[in-house]
Amino acid sequence: MARTPLISGNWKMNLNHFEAIQLVQKLSYELRNHDYDKVEVSVHPPFTDLRSVQTVIDADRMLFGLGAQNCHAETSGAFTGEVSPAMLQKMDVDFVIVGHSERRALFGETNEIVAAKALAVATHEMTPIVCVGETLQERESGEAESVVEAQVLGSLASLKGEKLTKTVVAYEPVWAIGTGVTASASDAQQMCAHIRSVIETIKKSAAEEVRIQYGGSVNAANAGELMSMPDIDGALVGGASLDAASFARVVSFQDT
Ligand code: PGA
Repeated sequence: MARTPLISGNWKMNLNHFEAIQLVQKLSYELRNHDYDKVEVSVHPPFTDLRSVQTVIDADRMLFGLGAQNCHAETSGAFTGEVSPAMLQKMDVDFVIVGHSERRALFGETNEIVAAKALAVATHEMTPIVCVGETLQERESGEAESVVEAQVLGSLASLKGEKLTKTVVAYEPVWAIGTGVTASASDAQQMCAHIRSVIETIKKSAAEEVRIQYGGSVNAANAGELMSMPDIDGALVGGASLDAASFARVVSFQDT
């Protein structure tokens, strides 16, 4: 089965809404229509930028998807400071990143919380991008596969049927995020193949369909090799997605 690679730009807590508009306009200028023939692209601005970016995408019929970086699991209620999946759906958001390692480490998100958010996103007809990945210490002590396996099983636990098959998993080793150190293509492939085999234990037929991204210091120079791996179906790109030309070069990896 051919899985369309998904290249997602995670802007994290960068760019105000004016800067966000500039970046998507530059990005749309850098990308050619044929760039979208073989890949899907999404941008994930901060919440305050979403409405502006969505308006530009709509008005100029840009071909990339709109993404958020997080949301709450509940649809509404007394959750001061949170943003609901229903609000994101109403704004035509296509993808929502859940369980990014920064949220797991800095904001206490457990697999249970991530699973609830993933279900909420899928229930609101958006695609969850569920992040997993081991720390350096876990890798060095030989626990990487078991840690990632527990994250995959725990974080996908609430997803059944189509909700599972449409989900995207992002394998992001924590030690590779924002460090300039990328996992070797073969190590990344090995873990993504492992993730696929874990998904197979949840639902055999889902394993072939679920897209698995690699994330962690992806840039124009390493994207091609990483994405040539059989179990890597795209990239979650942080730093390099803040520059239109760099992100466009990652998107057009198949030409490099
Ligand atoms: P990076 O971030 O590309 O800057 O390493 C990736 C991510 O955290 O999603």
